Amino acid sequence: MGGGSNAIGLFHAFLRDADVKMVGIEAGGRGNGLGEHAARLGVLQGFTGARPGVLQGTYTYVLQDEDGQIALTHSISAGLDYPAIGPEHAWLADQNRASYAAVSDDEALAAASLLARTEGIIPALESAHALAGLVSRLSGLRKDDLIILNVSGRGDKDMDTYKRLL
Ligand SMILES: Cc1ncc(COP(=O)(O)O)c(C=O)c1O
Repeated sequence: MGGGSNAIGLFHAFLRDADVKMVGIEAGGRGNGLGEHAARLGVLQGFTGARPGVLQGTYTYVLQDEDGQIALTHSISAGLDYPAIGPEHAWLADQNRASYAAVSDDEALAAASLLARTEGIIPALESAHALAGLVSRLSGLRKDDLIILNVSGRGDKDMDTYKRLL
């Protein structure tokens, strides 16, 4: 999730169905410290810097310094490199209706490689984060669980990064 538009587009049809679990994956970047990640809802995983605030007219969780100045963020994926999160996600997180977690740059790269090798699909780096989130949950899943993974985009735009780092 960058601002979270792809995720909310998928979640909204299932919000009233309590049997459906929803998980959003943010950019864990290269560390937990402010400026190293873009995990606005990742406080449980130890990602620092997110507090309620207003950015671009929206009251939501915002990565900010002690003075309330908007923090710098880092992600290998440009589309996830954003200090705020769509307010519906902030609300869903507070309600515990959806859960949120972050994966690192390296986990996203490994997931992109996995999807390319096993399915012949080169995902966008943003989508690779979602896949990495799924991979990290495999041990908690049963074979007959039904899963929808939002592959939000293609990796053509990320080929330079893939070529450099894989
Ligand atoms: C392919 C792709 N997926 C996901 C995103 C993240 O944005 P959002 O969380 O608003 O869906 C972006 C943003 O640029 C993107 O390019």
